[in-house]
Amino acid sequence: MPLPVRTEDFRTAVLGLAAAGFAGANVTIPHKEAAFALCDEVAPLARRAGAVNTLVFAERRILGSNTDGPGFLANLRQCGIDPEAGPALVLGAGGAARAIAAVLLDAGVAVTLCNRTGARAAELASKLPGCSVIDWSARDAALPDHALLVNTTSLGMVGQPPLEIDLGRADSGCAVADIVYVPLETPLIEAAQAWGLKTAPGLGMLLHQAVPGFAAWFGMTPAVDDALYRFVAADLLAPR
Ligand SMILES: NC(=O)c1ccc[n+]([C@@H]2O[C@H](COP(=O)([O-])OP(=O)(O)OC[C@H]3O[C@@H](n4cnc5c(N)ncnc54)[C@H](OP(=O)(O)O)[C@@H]3O)[C@@H](O)[C@H]2O)c1
Repeated sequence: MPLPVRTEDFRTAVLGLAAAGFAGANVTIPHKEAAFALCDEVAPLARRAGAVNTLVFAERRILGSNTDGPGFLANLRQCGIDPEAGPALVLGAGGAARAIAAVLLDAGVAVTLCNRTGARAAELASKLPGCSVIDWSARDAALPDHALLVNTTSLGMVGQPPLEIDLGRADSGCAVADIVYVPLETPLIEAAQAWGLKTAPGLGMLLHQAVPGFAAWFGMTPAVDDALYRFVAADLLAPR
């Protein structure tokens, strides 16, 4: 049940859901930081990400976690990509970049951040020791030094321009992940496939990040398989 909420009403809306007997909720942009602030208890990864995307209401307490990072890793693995194969070039420095960079660093992967607004990447790197930062204009030149390219910007999303990057510079073993999931295959994913690179489209991450919340709310763990992928894809693409 999608529930658009104005920023100023976020707290009231969440407390209302809990009071109305809901088991919990997912939270998306722009409310993940507000959700973090609202929780009575926050899981360690959410604390590291500074943001909460999964709420569980339990005995008058609000428990928060952030499943974006683990969902990202699970999707890579399901797509046959080893996240630990080598350094990762993460484009973007928003909420999703922060969650993804944190789990990659925790897995021992060297992370390079590259964002249009350089100051934002530098600020993120200051919160995640171990990340290096390069200029947005240096992304093509940096590609050969990385085993994984991750687009966490909104470029490539319906209504947004495509991400401009020269995949011809990538090593043939480089994998490409795009967390944008509308369209299901972004221009970046299509280009990576044309270059013969391994790819991880964003819908898989969306499904995997939803698993822990679903399990907590309904007491059953869904399998992320082709049937679920097709079901959610059809719903996403259905005219509203
Ligand atoms: N698949 C999933 O499960 C999943 C989960 C979370 C998010 N997402 C998707 O990931 C995307 C980012 O989410 P977010 O929460 O991180 O958003 P956010 O915090 O608003 O960050 C947006 C990022 O995109 C960059 N950007 C926007 N327009 C740009 C442009 N024209 N050129 C270059 N960079 C541009 C921003 O750069 P500046 O700092 O320069 O503005 C920033 O780094 C969204 O499309 C969201 O739907 C997917």
